[in-house]
Amino acid sequence: MEAETQEALIAALRLQLDWGVDEALDAEPHDRAARLPERPEAPAARAPFPAPGSSPAPLRAQPQLLPASLAGTRAQALAAGADSLPALREAMAQFEGSPLKETAMNLVFADGVAESGLMFIGEAPGADEDRLGRPFVGVSGQLLDRMLASVGLSRERDFYITNILPFRPPGNRTPTDAEIALFLPFILRHIELARPRLLVLLGGVSAKALLRSREGITRLRGRWHQVTTNEEQALPALATLHPAYLLRTPTAKREAWNDLLMLRRKIDGKD
Ligand code: URA
Repeated sequence: MEAETQEALIAALRLQLDWGVDEALDAEPHDRAARLPERPEAPAARAPFPAPGSSPAPLRAQPQLLPASLAGTRAQALAAGADSLPALREAMAQFEGSPLKETAMNLVFADGVAESGLMFIGEAPGADEDRLGRPFVGVSGQLLDRMLASVGLSRERDFYITNILPFRPPGNRTPTDAEIALFLPFILRHIELARPRLLVLLGGVSAKALLRSREGITRLRGRWHQVTTNEEQALPALATLHPAYLLRTPTAKREAWNDLLMLRRKIDGKD
């Protein structure tokens, strides 16, 4: 390859990185589960590249993505069967109903203090969270930690934090409605097992999914709502803006600050 062409190609790749392109993907998400037949034949796969001269490797079935029609029922059964937070984490790791698991590096379960009585729920892991297996550890998580510190709340002591989806959607795209519905049994069970007294819903995806609302976050934020779990627990839930939105729209920090003051008052029993 000519040096000039090579330089131009490298410059074009650098430009894409500057624009935030970190995955090679199509513009639209693929619903890979929809293309599978109802009852797929489990292909028996050989372990790849057996050593020369070794006896044939035993045949072994690869984990198969469940057909979409079965995935929802399986998610409900796995979530309902979990009787502790570690069991729920294990059940989510076992779940073969979403192609997101194939593209993610890690399952991102939760962080903070489960027994604190205060639970934050965001949207889905980003690249940093996926790499480290912990929610809200990237720039938006760091902003959130600083904002919460300003009302006296620390992740090490005062709250528990998780997401609607445990796997990063490739390229950080917004989760589809189908993905949110598929993982809903897990987050509802997560709430039941953590038994918080208060919930905070970070951003539109979390608020709409748990409040079963079609309203946008700008309408839902700044108010206490109720989230009802499958065990009919009704929990006070404050909807607020997502920290990633605040990074893009710093002028909205004023509203977020008001929401945090509402939360502080509620924690202090003044509301
Ligand atoms: N955004 C989220 O909603 N969750 C994370 O864990 C990180 C960024």
